[in-house]
Formats: sequence, C-alpha cells, structure tokens
Amino acid sequence: VQPENPIPINDLRRLYAAHAEAIEQAALDTLRSGWWLNGPKSKAFSEAFAGYVSVSDCVPVANGTDALELAMRAVLGDRDAASHEIVTVANAGGYTSTAAMQVGFVPVYADIEEGSQLLSIDAAVGALTARTIAVFATHLYGNAVDVPALRAGMNRAGFPDVMIVEDCAQSHGARIGDRMTGSMGDIATFSFYPTKNLGAMGDGGALVTGNAGLAASVRRLQQYGWSAKYEIAERGGRNSRMDEIQAAILSAMLPHLDANNLERRRILDRYEAAARGKVRFIDRSEGAVIHLAVALCDDRDGFRAFLSERGIASEVHYPILDTDQPGWRAMPPRQAPVGIPVSRKSVGAILSLPCFPGMTQTEADRVVLAIAHWEAR
Ligand SMILES: Cc1ncc(COP(=O)(O)O)c(C=O)c1O
Repeated sequence: VQPENPIPINDLRRLYAAHAEAIEQAALDTLRSGWWLNGPKSKAFSEAFAGYVSVSDCVPVANGTDALELAMRAVLGDRDAASHEIVTVANAGGYTSTAAMQVGFVPVYADIEEGSQLLSIDAAVGALTARTIAVFATHLYGNAVDVPALRAGMNRAGFPDVMIVEDCAQSHGARIGDRMTGSMGDIATFSFYPTKNLGAMGDGGALVTGNAGLAASVRRLQQYGWSAKYEIAERGGRNSRMDEIQAAILSAMLPHLDANNLERRRILDRYEAAARGKVRFIDRSEGAVIHLAVALCDDRDGFRAFLSERGIASEVHYPILDTDQPGWRAMPPRQAPVGIPVSRKSVGAILSLPCFPGMTQTEADRVVLAIAHWEAR
C-alpha cells in the first residue's frame, strides 16, 4: 500500500511540461499578433485538422456541446425540431441530450452493445421513425461505432435520408478500417476539452464534414446566422467561436496526437493482460484509440475501494443515464420500443482507471498489480 503517492485519473501538468516550449510560443505569438478571434490561427488549425480527419471542411467552435447543437441545427434546416426526433445513446454523459434540448428535440434513446458499450446498430435502426432526422453515433471511450454498417442498416430499413452525426469528442484519431472517425457520417463533432485525446488549454470544439451545404450552414449558424457581415440569412444562429490562442495551441499539439494515443494504448494493453474476468475491459475495435481505460466489474464499488486503499484513483464515466437525470425528470421519457436494458445493467458495473500521457511506468505497474491482486482474491 503506497497511499503517499496517489495515482490520479489524469494529470495535465505532465502533458503541459512535455510540450511547454511550443505551447508557450504559440500563445505568446498569438497574444503579440493582436488578432485573437477569427484569424490565421483558427484557419491554420481547421486546415490541419480537416487534413488529419480527411474531410474537406472543419469549422472551429467554442466547445463540443456547441458543436453538437450546431450539427443539430444544420441537419434540421427549416424543419421544426419539436415534431422531429434524433436517436442517440443514454450512457454517454448527456452532452447530446443537452444540445438536443437547446434545439428543442426530445432525444430517443437506443440501447448499447455490452462488450463495446457503443450504440447498438440494430437498436438504432429499430428506433427510427418517420420523424427521425438524424442518428447521433458517439464514439465513446475512443472506440468507434461502425458507421458504414450503421448507414447500410439504415438504408436497408428504408431510411436513406436520415443523417448520421458522429460525436468524436472521445475518438480523435480512431478509425474503422482506413476511415477516420469524423469522416464516415454526414457531419461530425469534436470537443477539445483539456482531458480529450487532443485537448486545448481551455474550451474548444469543431465540426467536420465533407458536405459543402452542411459546412456552409454551420459557418453561418456559428456566427449569428450571418451570410455576410451583419446580414442574417439563417435562423437559429448564435455565437460560438474558438479563441485564436486555443487554435494555436491545438496546432502545436496535433502533431503529437498519434504518439499520445499510442502511449495510452500501451498502458491499457498492460492492464488488459492482468485482467482475468472479474475485471473485464471493454472490447476495442482494431482502429480504436484509448480515451479512457474502461472496464466492467460486478463488484465495481468494492474494486474502487480496493484501488483507493492503494492510492489509485478511479472514476465512473458516466454514473447516471440521460433517462435518469434528475433535472430532466419532467421531460417526456422516450426510449426505443425495446428499452435500454444493457445501458441500465452496465451503469452500475462500469469504471475508468488512470490512463494518460505522462503516466509513469511505476504508476502503471502499481495499477497492474492492483488488478492482479483483485483477480486473485
Ligand atoms: C462524448 C462527448 N460528447 C460531447 C462532449 C462535450 O464537449 P465539451 O465539454 O467541449 O462541451 C464531451 C465532453 O465533454 C464528450 O465526452
């Protein structure tokens, strides 16, 4: 037991220290340029990030929840939100639901696959109705939803016009085959919240798409609905911009994304090798990245206490399903006809272990040992 050296769930100071010179230079150059919004740093980052994801368009915005809301407004177009639906999962932290409520949709929740904790394609297809305008596929924990398979299932079921929006807030760099998450659906959203695989030093988000019409709509909507300065061409507009300082920092960090993803993967590989069945790490697809080291454990709270005694932090992502959030209790409950039994069952078993760039070998050793001891009890 080494409680004197607690292992945190993440430590962003280490990431900062590893890249301090480049980050400080990026911030200082931007401050000294006198151009702090809508300038060359945002333009350069959007071009670099569009290139990384392999899409034609990237629109930087203030955060990932704004990106979700703007995606909803863009796919909705002139239609009325209150008489339409979006389909999503209830286990992904509530961000899509929060955005949906801003726009006026009541989300319809489809169940997940237990092994991957991702949206079940069959459940999503089964939740589609004539009112559905989009399926929001969250690539949770760095694992990728098979968007081409979802598209094929939706087409077979007679819904070729229902769009797919990918939420890539946890999947920077993850792929299905050779296709990057963010490039497979109609439009995709990213968050650059500091703990994300590509994180800013403050808030940030982006939308990416290969659909020129949706890109143009998002560009208007993120700036008051303007088509030109002071001319509002589209209703539902608002202000959601990324600061130039954040864009410059993200440009400095993007070249390190793949290496940081690999570092997280190497840590999780070691945890997985120590797990024997009491702790079951979630299935990863081949092109997955690791955002969080997530496992299912029947005695989850017992295991968390055991870790805590050893100075190892853990977390639950996420402890409350969207359907059960106290603040949304008055909302009409909407679930796919078959309900969400797997989401319900998983919420009490899920936990996240420390896994972040800059975590030391010694720290990872201690987590591996703790998993092995728990398994041997
Ligand atoms: C899956 C998912 N979607 C959306 C968001 C929202 O991003 P933000 O915090 O930048 O608004 C987050 C994280 O915060 C997330 O994890």
